[in-house]
Amino acid sequence: MTNLFASRPVTSSQSGPHPRLNRVLEAHLRRRFEAPLHAPSVAAFETLQNMLAKERAPRVLDSGCGTGESTRQIARLLPGCLVIGVDKSADRLRRGGISRFPYRGGNAIWLRADLPTFWRLAVEAGWRLRRHFLLYPNPWPKPGHLQRRWHAHPVFPSLLQLGGELDMRSNWQVYAEEFAMAANRALGTCARPRPVGESAVCSPFERKYRASGHRLYSVAFSCDSSGVNRSTPVRLL
Ligand SMILES: C[S@@+](CC[C@H](N)C(=O)[O-])C[C@H]1O[C@@H](n2cnc3c(N)ncnc32)[C@H](O)[C@@H]1O
Repeated sequence: MTNLFASRPVTSSQSGPHPRLNRVLEAHLRRRFEAPLHAPSVAAFETLQNMLAKERAPRVLDSGCGTGESTRQIARLLPGCLVIGVDKSADRLRRGGISRFPYRGGNAIWLRADLPTFWRLAVEAGWRLRRHFLLYPNPWPKPGHLQRRWHAHPVFPSLLQLGGELDMRSNWQVYAEEFAMAANRALGTCARPRPVGESAVCSPFERKYRASGHRLYSVAFSCDSSGVNRSTPVRLL
């Protein structure tokens, strides 16, 4: 029987890592990202900081949490941690039953914010994460949209500076390969895409992609082993 809710695999004219990725990444590693911050996200971050003033629990971030379902799962799995789900879409968060932000339920908190602003402010405020989940970010498969992919975005060094064990998942092999290459260049790690096996954390997009028979890739590595490498460029491509 045809699955009416099947999702199509990512299609792109790109069949491998983008030929400009290396150059773009070098520029981002050399230069500080100084674009203006997103004002509503600054206000959201300040409210969150006040809420967390007395919190000592290790922090876990679920970046681009969508409906926030994965945040709830992670919070259940890591009861000693404070798990923060961040998404820019109020609609998606509302679909998950979260209608005001920040909203706290047990050891989970949901916040509506734009990630490039949130990540930069968190670095400035001295956050160091225990874990960081980046589940199924928008793939931006058009080659001309390279810099919208997180690993080619000027905020990538800040994302890595937040530290922690990072798990990025994607249903597009090229995205996973590029993400691993960029992380390895910046941190000196040896990450590579691996198939997503049975996992206790399964987001709505992961469920949808699995039901549609997509191959799923995870790139997992520690951001704590070294600092973000802003010098000594190494050719990757
Ligand atoms: C493909 S969905 C994945 C949602 C969820 N992680 C999952 O796996 O079900 C990507 C999510 O990233 C969020 N997103 C994209 N760009 C963002 C940004 N700049 N700031 C915050 N959230 C963003 C979108 O609103 C969307 O909910």
